[in-house]
Amino acid sequence: MKILAIETSCDETAAAVAVGFEFGAKIFSNVVSSQIEIHKKYGGVVPEVAAREHVHQILPVIDEAFFQAGIKKEELDAIAVTGGPGLMSSLQTGVETAKSLAYVLNIPLIFVNHIEGHIYANYIDLEKEIELPAVILTVSGGHTMIILMKEHGKFEVIGETRDDAAGEAFDKAAKLLDLGYPGGPAISKKAEEFKIQNSKFKISLPRPMIDSANFDFSFSGLKTAIRYALEDDKNWKDRIPEYAYEFQEAVVEVLVSKTIKVASKYNAQTVMLAGGVSANKRLREKLTEDVNDKLNDVNLIIPELKFTTDNAAMIASAGVFKYKNKDFVDWKNFSADCNHSLA
Ligand code: KG4
Ligand code: ZN
Repeated sequence: MKILAIETSCDETAAAVAVGFEFGAKIFSNVVSSQIEIHKKYGGVVPEVAAREHVHQILPVIDEAFFQAGIKKEELDAIAVTGGPGLMSSLQTGVETAKSLAYVLNIPLIFVNHIEGHIYANYIDLEKEIELPAVILTVSGGHTMIILMKEHGKFEVIGETRDDAAGEAFDKAAKLLDLGYPGGPAISKKAEEFKIQNSKFKISLPRPMIDSANFDFSFSGLKTAIRYALEDDKNWKDRIPEYAYEFQEAVVEVLVSKTIKVASKYNAQTVMLAGGVSANKRLREKLTEDVNDKLNDVNLIIPELKFTTDNAAMIASAGVFKYKNKDFVDWKNFSADCNHSLA
């Protein structure tokens, strides 16, 4: 089956064409028009600006996805779209476009939760079935959760952040360090400079809730800790790589340590990583190390870099599974749901 997927939940206008096969989805095209350059000057995403940009970009992006895939819209079997969570005015462009196309082409319409999409980024181009139950560390700009997946489409949230999301913490720390937006890639780059310099390491930030009896997270205290550390350090501008390094270590250690504990408690067969922060090199490295060292015979699946931050290929991948289950929505009763919850 051939599917078109659309994703407009935040500041990327994205469309992808995929084909369903035995183990998941094969991606034929994956087009992302990012608004990062536009929002950079405001230091974050401005919803009204994002919404207007989606309206301009959506049809050219879809057209390009068809062109790159080499298929015509009449060949499609279904359309999948991110229905939420996300920015309401951003989601609406994708949802209404998907509804119009499903109506005109008279094909099924599939609702995909954005987080579910991130999880299914792990189901692209697979060569064998993923063994369940799986524990998924889902880390993005808006969400931080450890999810237990016992079967397709059934998710249990085992732990989540009580305040800031991991990506949000990276973005806020980057702002304090004058590194601009988006903060995750900027901090990661600076942190690598520190390793290269290999200078003497002096800064120490907390690892919030690392030993708590539950699997929740809290990152707002870490942001405050770095703010106080900078206020007390007259020469912080000379030590930005060191701050970036220690901040990244603190976030990664907490995320990985709790994921390993959950995987062990629930006898996971597979650990997966999902969401924009899964682009982080250090997180990928540390999770790989700890799954190998601390868990027995557990598979690790990490999405390809291009499928980590917001894209429509991941929505297509989730859509393929929903198509198999005939999990369709009626365009007449379907609208974007900015608070849609996964579980
Ligand atoms: O999943 P995503 O593209 O959008 C949301 O659904 O929120 O995630 C965006 C978040 C941003 O906070 C960004 O700073 C973070 O992912 N991010 C990273 C990296 N690349 C993106 N965080 C840490 N390291 C990275 N390399
Ligand atoms: Zn996302």
